[in-house]
Amino acid sequence: MKKALITGITGQDGSYLAELLLEKGYEVYGIMRRKSTLDYGNIDHLIGAEHLHLIYADMTDFVSLVNAMRESDADEVYNLAAQSFVATSWEQPLATAEIDAVGVTNMLEAIKLVKPSCRFYQASTSEMFGLVQEIPQKETTPFYPRSPYGVAKLYGHWITKNYRESYNMYACSGILFNHESERRGKEFVTRKITDAAARIAAGKQDCLELGNMEAKRDWGHSKDYVRAMWLMLQQDTPDDYVVATGETRMVREFVDAAFEALDIALEWHGEGADEYATNKANGKTVVKVNPKFFRPAEVELLLGDPTKAEKELGWEREIDFKELVTRMVLADKERVSHE
Ligand code: NAP
Ligand code: GDD
Repeated sequence: MKKALITGITGQDGSYLAELLLEKGYEVYGIMRRKSTLDYGNIDHLIGAEHLHLIYADMTDFVSLVNAMRESDADEVYNLAAQSFVATSWEQPLATAEIDAVGVTNMLEAIKLVKPSCRFYQASTSEMFGLVQEIPQKETTPFYPRSPYGVAKLYGHWITKNYRESYNMYACSGILFNHESERRGKEFVTRKITDAAARIAAGKQDCLELGNMEAKRDWGHSKDYVRAMWLMLQQDTPDDYVVATGETRMVREFVDAAFEALDIALEWHGEGADEYATNKANGKTVVKVNPKFFRPAEVELLLGDPTKAEKELGWEREIDFKELVTRMVLADKERVSHE
C-alpha cells in the first residue's frame, strides 16, 4: 500500500486529491493547521475514513514537517498548502512568502532529511506567467509574476527544480491554470459569482459587486486537475507540466453563464468602473463594478497549452466550461435553498 502526504488537505484541491488517492488504495496522510475551532474544511465528509490520517503541522514550522514525514513515511508528497488568494498577498506579503516560498524549502528539506527517495509534487501556478510574454503559455514561456503571491510561487517553482537538479530528487511542478469547483473558496471570482447568482435568484441578495470584468482566465475543474498531479508522480523521470483547458474567457462571460444556468438573461450597460448588468426580465440591476475589487497589478490574460501533459502523461480533462459553471451554480442553489 503506497503512502502519500498531502499538505493543504483541507483546501479545494487537497480534498479532491485525498478522495482520488483513497480510491486508488493509498494510505493518505494530511497536514492541517491548529485553529481555535475544529474545522476540517473540505474534508469534513472524509473524517473517520479508515485510511485517512491527519497530522497537525504548518508550512512555516520545519520541525512539524519533519515530524509529518517521520509519522507518514510517505512515498509521495503533494505540496498543495498555500496562502492561495492573490488579492490577500498584497495585504500579507510576508506571510505569503513564508508559506508559499520558504515553506516549499521546508518541505523539501524535511523530505531530504527523512526519506530522500520520496517523490514530490509542487503546486505551481499560471500566476507565474503574470504579464504574459507569449500566448498561449506553455512550459517554455518566460515568467513575469504580477503579485506577491506570483513572486512567492515562482520561488517555490525554482527551488523544486533546484532540488531535483542538486540532489537528484524526484521533484516536479504542475503549472496549473485556474481550476474551480463546488468546493472553491467564496472569495475567488467564480464561486463569488455562482453563490451570488443563486442568492439573487432566490431573492436573498440584490446585487453582485465585482472588480475587473475584462480579465481572462483558463478555467477547468479541480477534480480533473488533481488527476494530473498524481500522473506527474507516476512517471519514469520527474518533469514540469502545464495543466490547462486551452480555452480562455472573460469574467463577464462567467457571469453571463452563471445567471443563464438559473434562466436569468442579463443586459450589460456602461463600461469600466461604470459597468453594470440588469435582469432582462425586470430591469433590476443585479451586477455592478466596484473599483475596490481592482488589484494593484492585474494579470489580464491567461491561456494555457496543455499539449505536453496530454501527450506525455495521457492526461485529459472531462469537465468542460458549461458543466463546470452548471455544477457550481446548482450546488450553490441547493445550499442557498436551506439557508
Ligand atoms: P485552497 O483551497 O486555498 O487550499 C489551501 C490549503 O493550504 C488549505 O488546506 C489551507 O489550510 C492550507 N494552508 C494555508 N496556509 C498553510 C500553512 N501555513 N500551513 C499548512 N497549511 C496551510 O487552495 P486550492 O485552490 O486547493 O489550491 C491548492 C494549491 O494549488 C495552492 O498551493 C494554490 O496556490 C495552488 N494553485 C491553485 C490553483 C487554483 O486555481 N485553484 C491554480 C494553480 C495553483 P486551512 O484550511 O487551514 O486554511
Ligand atoms: N476574487 C475576485 N473577486 N476576483 C475578481 C473580482 C472579484 O470581485 N472581480 C474581478 N475579478 C478578477 C480578478 O481581478 C482576476 O483577474 C480574476 O477575476 C480571477 O480572480 P480569482 O478568482 O481571485 O483568481 P486568480 O486568477 O487571481 O488566482 C487563482 O488562480 C491562480 C492560477 O492562475 C487562485 O486560485 C490562485 O491560487 C491560482 O494560483
